[in-house]
Amino acid sequence: MNIALVGYGKMGRIVERAAKERGHRITAVIDPFVPDPPESLCLYKTVAEAQTLADADVAVEFSRPEAAADNIKALAALRVPVVSGTTGWYGRMDEVAGAVKAADSSLLWAPNFSLGVNIFYRIAFNAASLMDPFDEYDAGGFEAHHNKKADSPSGTAKTLAEGIIKRIRRKTKPVYETLARPPAPDEFHFPSLRLGAMPGTHAVIFDSPPDTIEIRHTARGREGFASGALAAAHWLVNCPGPGQAAGKARRGIFTMDDVLDELGVK
Ligand SMILES: NC(=O)c1ccc[n+]([C@@H]2O[C@H](COP(=O)([O-])OP(=O)(O)OC[C@H]3O[C@@H](n4cnc5c(N)ncnc54)[C@H](O)[C@@H]3O)[C@@H](O)[C@H]2O)c1
Repeated sequence: MNIALVGYGKMGRIVERAAKERGHRITAVIDPFVPDPPESLCLYKTVAEAQTLADADVAVEFSRPEAAADNIKALAALRVPVVSGTTGWYGRMDEVAGAVKAADSSLLWAPNFSLGVNIFYRIAFNAASLMDPFDEYDAGGFEAHHNKKADSPSGTAKTLAEGIIKRIRRKTKPVYETLARPPAPDEFHFPSLRLGAMPGTHAVIFDSPPDTIEIRHTARGREGFASGALAAAHWLVNCPGPGQAAGKARRGIFTMDDVLDELGVK
Protein backbone atom coordinates (compact mmCIF):
# COMPACT_ATOMS: atom_id res chain seq x y z
CA MET A 1 0.00 0.00 0.00
CA ASN A 2 1.01 3.59 -0.50
CA ILE A 3 0.28 5.41 2.73
CA ALA A 4 0.01 9.11 3.59
CA LEU A 5 0.63 9.89 7.24
CA VAL A 6 -1.44 12.75 8.62
CA GLY A 7 0.12 13.74 11.94
CA TYR A 8 3.75 12.86 12.49
CA GLY A 9 3.92 12.73 16.27
CA LYS A 10 4.40 9.67 18.46
CA MET A 11 1.78 7.56 16.68
CA GLY A 12 2.58 8.79 13.16
CA ARG A 13 6.21 7.75 13.60
CA ILE A 14 5.32 4.32 15.02
CA VAL A 15 2.91 3.74 12.11
CA GLU A 16 5.68 4.79 9.70
CA ARG A 17 8.09 2.24 11.18
CA ALA A 18 5.48 -0.55 11.28
CA ALA A 19 4.36 0.21 7.70
CA LYS A 20 7.92 0.13 6.34
CA GLU A 21 8.63 -3.14 8.20
CA ARG A 22 5.62 -4.60 6.39
CA GLY A 23 6.85 -3.43 2.98
CA HIS A 24 4.47 -0.47 2.52
CA ARG A 25 5.54 2.94 1.17
CA ILE A 26 5.03 6.31 2.86
CA THR A 27 4.23 8.69 0.01
CA ALA A 28 3.36 11.85 1.97
CA VAL A 29 3.55 13.17 5.51
CA ILE A 30 1.25 16.01 6.57
CA ASP A 31 2.04 17.83 9.79
CA PRO A 32 2.44 21.60 10.21
CA PHE A 33 4.71 21.34 13.25
CA VAL A 34 7.61 18.96 12.57
CA PRO A 35 10.89 20.48 13.75
CA ASP A 36 14.01 19.57 11.68
CA PRO A 37 12.36 17.07 9.31
CA PRO A 38 14.75 14.71 7.47
CA GLU A 39 15.09 15.63 3.77
CA SER A 40 13.84 12.19 2.71
CA LEU A 41 10.38 12.99 4.17
CA CYS A 42 7.74 14.20 1.66
CA LEU A 43 6.47 16.65 4.28
CA TYR A 44 3.58 19.11 3.79
CA LYS A 45 1.87 21.46 6.20
CA THR A 46 -1.72 20.77 5.06
CA VAL A 47 -3.73 18.20 3.13
CA ALA A 48 -4.42 20.84 0.45
CA GLU A 49 -0.68 21.40 -0.11
CA ALA A 50 0.26 17.73 -0.31
CA GLN A 51 1.15 17.20 -3.96
CA THR A 52 2.06 13.51 -3.52
CA LEU A 53 -1.30 12.69 -1.89
CA ALA A 54 -2.70 11.46 -5.20
CA ASP A 55 -0.23 8.54 -4.95
CA ALA A 56 -1.66 7.40 -1.60
CA ASP A 57 -4.07 4.45 -1.36
CA VAL A 58 -4.95 5.39 2.19
CA ALA A 59 -4.21 8.08 4.77
CA VAL A 60 -3.49 7.12 8.38
CA GLU A 61 -4.49 10.04 10.60
CA PHE A 62 -3.15 10.43 14.17
CA SER A 63 -3.11 14.20 14.73
CA ARG A 64 -4.77 16.47 17.28
CA PRO A 65 -8.42 16.65 18.45
CA GLU A 66 -8.81 20.16 17.00
CA ALA A 67 -7.31 19.14 13.63
CA ALA A 68 -8.77 15.71 12.87
CA ALA A 69 -12.27 16.63 11.61
CA ASP A 70 -10.96 19.15 9.06
CA ASN A 71 -8.21 16.75 7.97
CA ILE A 72 -10.72 13.95 7.38
CA LYS A 73 -13.06 16.28 5.45
CA ALA A 74 -10.19 17.51 3.27
CA LEU A 75 -9.07 13.93 2.57
CA ALA A 76 -12.65 12.89 1.78
CA ALA A 77 -12.97 15.73 -0.74
CA LEU A 78 -9.91 14.26 -2.52
CA ARG A 79 -11.43 10.75 -2.14
CA VAL A 80 -8.46 9.45 -0.18
CA PRO A 81 -9.70 6.71 2.22
CA VAL A 82 -8.87 7.59 5.83
CA VAL A 83 -8.03 5.47 8.88
CA SER A 84 -8.30 7.89 11.81
CA GLY A 85 -7.13 7.17 15.35
CA THR A 86 -7.28 10.72 16.69
CA THR A 87 -9.62 11.03 19.67
CA GLY A 88 -11.53 14.02 21.02
CA TRP A 89 -13.22 15.20 17.79
CA TYR A 90 -16.33 13.01 17.92
CA GLY A 91 -18.63 15.99 18.62
CA ARG A 92 -18.18 16.72 14.88
CA MET A 93 -18.89 13.12 13.81
CA ASP A 94 -22.20 13.89 12.04
CA GLU A 95 -20.66 16.70 9.99
CA VAL A 96 -17.60 14.58 9.10
CA ALA A 97 -19.65 11.48 8.27
CA GLY A 98 -21.90 13.64 6.06
CA ALA A 99 -18.87 15.00 4.18
CA VAL A 100 -17.37 11.51 3.70
CA LYS A 101 -20.67 10.13 2.40
CA ALA A 102 -21.31 13.13 0.15
CA ALA A 103 -17.88 12.62 -1.45
CA ASP A 104 -18.52 8.83 -1.73
CA SER A 105 -15.28 8.34 0.15
CA SER A 106 -14.16 6.14 3.07
CA LEU A 107 -13.48 6.56 6.78
CA LEU A 108 -12.58 3.93 9.36
CA TRP A 109 -12.27 5.46 12.83
CA ALA A 110 -11.54 3.94 16.24
CA PRO A 111 -10.61 5.44 19.61
CA ASN A 112 -8.46 2.34 20.17
CA PHE A 113 -6.99 0.44 17.23
CA SER A 114 -5.35 -2.30 19.30
CA LEU A 115 -6.66 -5.63 17.99
CA GLY A 116 -6.18 -7.07 21.48
CA VAL A 117 -8.34 -4.38 23.08
CA ASN A 118 -11.07 -4.78 20.48
CA ILE A 119 -11.09 -8.55 21.02
CA PHE A 120 -11.01 -7.92 24.79
CA TYR A 121 -14.18 -5.80 24.49
CA ARG A 122 -15.97 -8.78 22.99
CA ILE A 123 -14.58 -11.20 25.61
CA ALA A 124 -15.69 -8.83 28.41
CA PHE A 125 -19.14 -8.26 26.86
CA ASN A 126 -19.67 -12.00 26.33
CA ALA A 127 -18.52 -12.63 29.92
CA ALA A 128 -21.00 -10.01 31.17
CA SER A 129 -23.85 -11.73 29.31
CA LEU A 130 -22.79 -15.08 30.80
CA MET A 131 -22.71 -13.61 34.32
CA ASP A 132 -26.06 -11.81 34.01
CA PRO A 133 -28.17 -14.60 35.60
CA PHE A 134 -25.78 -15.14 38.53
CA ASP A 135 -26.75 -12.53 41.12
CA GLU A 136 -24.18 -13.79 43.64
CA TYR A 137 -21.43 -12.30 41.43
CA ASP A 138 -20.70 -8.62 41.88
CA ALA A 139 -19.07 -6.95 38.86
CA GLY A 140 -16.55 -4.14 38.54
CA GLY A 141 -12.97 -3.53 37.53
CA PHE A 142 -10.22 -0.97 37.19
CA GLU A 143 -7.86 0.58 34.72
CA ALA A 144 -4.21 1.56 35.29
CA HIS A 145 -1.94 3.77 33.18
CA HIS A 146 1.36 5.65 33.49
CA ASN A 147 1.34 8.89 35.48
CA LYS A 148 1.63 11.15 32.36
CA LYS A 149 -1.76 10.18 30.95
CA ALA A 150 -3.89 13.32 30.62
CA ASP A 151 -7.40 11.88 30.82
CA SER A 152 -9.13 9.71 33.37
CA PRO A 153 -11.01 7.39 33.04
CA SER A 154 -9.52 6.11 29.79
CA GLY A 155 -11.81 6.00 26.75
CA THR A 156 -11.31 2.24 26.74
CA ALA A 157 -12.56 2.05 30.35
CA LYS A 158 -15.72 3.95 29.39
CA THR A 159 -16.39 1.66 26.41
CA LEU A 160 -15.90 -1.39 28.63
CA ALA A 161 -18.05 -0.14 31.50
CA GLU A 162 -20.87 1.08 29.26
CA GLY A 163 -20.89 -2.19 27.28
CA ILE A 164 -20.90 -4.30 30.42
CA ILE A 165 -23.75 -2.49 32.20
CA LYS A 166 -25.90 -3.01 29.09
CA ARG A 167 -25.46 -6.77 29.58
CA ILE A 168 -25.77 -7.19 33.36
CA ARG A 169 -29.22 -6.14 34.51
CA ARG A 170 -28.22 -5.70 38.18
CA LYS A 171 -25.72 -2.98 37.17
CA THR A 172 -27.18 0.28 35.87
CA LYS A 173 -24.47 2.92 36.11
CA PRO A 174 -20.69 3.09 35.84
CA VAL A 175 -18.86 4.91 38.65
CA TYR A 176 -15.29 5.88 37.83
CA GLU A 177 -14.42 7.94 40.93
CA THR A 178 -12.69 6.59 44.01
CA LEU A 179 -15.51 6.10 46.51
CA ALA A 180 -15.50 7.19 50.14
CA ARG A 181 -18.59 5.01 50.68
CA PRO A 182 -19.63 1.47 49.72
CA PRO A 183 -20.80 1.30 46.10
CA ALA A 184 -24.55 0.83 45.63
CA PRO A 185 -25.47 -2.64 44.32
CA ASP A 186 -26.41 -1.25 40.89
CA GLU A 187 -23.14 0.70 40.51
CA PHE A 188 -20.39 -0.75 38.31
CA HIS A 189 -17.27 0.51 40.07
CA PHE A 190 -14.38 1.01 37.63
CA PRO A 191 -11.79 3.43 39.10
CA SER A 192 -8.50 4.60 37.55
CA LEU A 193 -4.95 4.25 38.86
CA ARG A 194 -2.13 6.51 37.57
CA LEU A 195 1.29 5.18 38.51
CA GLY A 196 4.88 5.36 37.21
CA ALA A 197 5.30 3.88 33.73
CA MET A 198 2.44 1.37 34.05
CA PRO A 199 1.40 0.04 30.63
CA GLY A 200 -2.31 0.49 29.81
CA THR A 201 -4.17 -2.14 31.84
CA HIS A 202 -7.91 -2.85 31.95
CA ALA A 203 -9.34 -5.50 34.24
CA VAL A 204 -12.93 -6.69 34.55
CA ILE A 205 -13.75 -8.65 37.69
CA PHE A 206 -16.71 -10.81 38.67
CA ASP A 207 -16.58 -11.65 42.37
CA SER A 208 -18.70 -14.01 44.47
CA PRO A 209 -18.21 -15.25 48.06
CA PRO A 210 -16.34 -18.41 46.99
CA ASP A 211 -14.37 -17.18 43.99
CA THR A 212 -13.23 -14.45 41.59
CA ILE A 213 -13.19 -14.39 37.81
CA GLU A 214 -10.88 -11.75 36.38
CA ILE A 215 -10.16 -10.91 32.75
CA ARG A 216 -7.43 -8.46 31.96
CA HIS A 217 -5.80 -6.78 28.99
CA THR A 218 -2.30 -5.33 29.38
CA ALA A 219 -0.70 -3.35 26.55
CA ARG A 220 3.08 -3.60 26.24
CA GLY A 221 3.40 -0.37 24.24
CA ARG A 222 1.98 1.66 21.39
CA GLU A 223 2.93 -0.82 18.64
CA GLY A 224 -0.43 -2.59 19.03
CA PHE A 225 -2.25 0.62 17.99
CA ALA A 226 -0.06 0.92 14.89
CA SER A 227 -0.45 -2.71 13.80
CA GLY A 228 -4.22 -2.48 14.38
CA ALA A 229 -4.41 0.74 12.33
CA LEU A 230 -2.50 -0.95 9.51
CA ALA A 231 -4.76 -4.01 9.70
CA ALA A 232 -7.71 -1.60 9.46
CA ALA A 233 -6.09 0.08 6.45
CA HIS A 234 -5.64 -3.32 4.74
CA TRP A 235 -9.32 -4.04 5.33
CA LEU A 236 -10.52 -0.60 4.19
CA VAL A 237 -8.68 -0.61 0.87
CA ASN A 238 -8.86 -4.37 0.27
CA CYS A 239 -5.12 -4.88 0.44
CA PRO A 240 -4.54 -8.66 0.52
CA GLY A 241 -1.53 -8.47 2.86
CA PRO A 242 1.62 -6.71 3.99
CA GLY A 243 3.68 -5.27 1.16
CA GLN A 244 0.92 -5.87 -1.41
CA ALA A 245 -1.00 -3.39 -3.52
CA ALA A 246 -4.35 -1.96 -2.46
CA GLY A 247 -7.55 -3.01 -4.21
CA LYS A 248 -10.80 -1.07 -4.52
CA ALA A 249 -11.59 0.79 -1.29
CA ARG A 250 -14.82 0.15 0.62
CA ARG A 251 -16.98 3.29 0.60
CA GLY A 252 -18.68 4.56 3.75
CA ILE A 253 -18.06 4.93 7.49
CA PHE A 254 -16.62 2.01 9.43
CA THR A 255 -15.15 1.13 12.83
CA MET A 256 -13.04 -1.72 14.18
CA ASP A 257 -16.32 -3.55 14.87
CA ASP A 258 -16.79 -3.96 11.13
CA VAL A 259 -13.27 -5.38 10.79
CA LEU A 260 -13.77 -7.84 13.67
CA ASP A 261 -17.25 -8.84 12.45
CA GLU A 262 -15.81 -9.77 9.09
CA LEU A 263 -12.98 -11.70 10.73
CA GLY A 264 -15.70 -13.74 12.46
CA VAL A 265 -14.88 -12.55 16.02
CA LYS A 266 -18.22 -13.01 17.78
N1 LIG B 1 -6.98 5.22 18.25
C1 LIG B 1 -5.90 4.76 18.85
O1 LIG B 1 -5.64 3.54 18.90
C2 LIG B 1 -4.94 5.74 19.47
C3 LIG B 1 -3.73 5.32 20.02
C4 LIG B 1 -2.84 6.29 20.49
C5 LIG B 1 -3.17 7.64 20.40
N2 LIG B 1 -4.37 8.00 19.87
C6 LIG B 1 -4.75 9.41 19.67
O2 LIG B 1 -4.09 9.83 18.48
C7 LIG B 1 -3.79 11.22 18.55
C8 LIG B 1 -2.31 11.46 18.33
O3 LIG B 1 -1.58 10.83 19.35
P1 LIG B 1 0.02 11.02 19.45
O4 LIG B 1 0.43 10.32 20.68
O5 LIG B 1 0.68 10.68 18.15
O6 LIG B 1 0.10 12.60 19.68
P2 LIG B 1 1.33 13.57 19.40
O7 LIG B 1 1.02 14.83 20.12
O8 LIG B 1 2.62 12.88 19.66
O9 LIG B 1 1.25 13.86 17.81
C9 LIG B 1 0.26 14.64 17.20
C10 LIG B 1 0.86 15.23 15.95
O10 LIG B 1 -0.18 15.89 15.22
C11 LIG B 1 0.41 17.05 14.63
N3 LIG B 1 -0.59 18.00 14.18
C12 LIG B 1 -1.11 19.09 14.83
N4 LIG B 1 -1.98 19.72 14.03
C13 LIG B 1 -2.02 19.03 12.87
C14 LIG B 1 -2.73 19.19 11.65
N5 LIG B 1 -3.60 20.20 11.48
N6 LIG B 1 -2.54 18.27 10.68
C15 LIG B 1 -1.68 17.25 10.84
N7 LIG B 1 -0.96 17.06 11.97
C16 LIG B 1 -1.15 17.92 12.96
C17 LIG B 1 1.33 17.59 15.72
O11 LIG B 1 2.30 18.47 15.17
C18 LIG B 1 1.95 16.28 16.23
O12 LIG B 1 3.13 15.96 15.52
C19 LIG B 1 -4.33 11.66 19.91
O13 LIG B 1 -5.65 12.14 19.73
C20 LIG B 1 -4.36 10.37 20.73
O14 LIG B 1 -5.31 10.39 21.77
C21 LIG B 1 -5.25 7.09 19.43
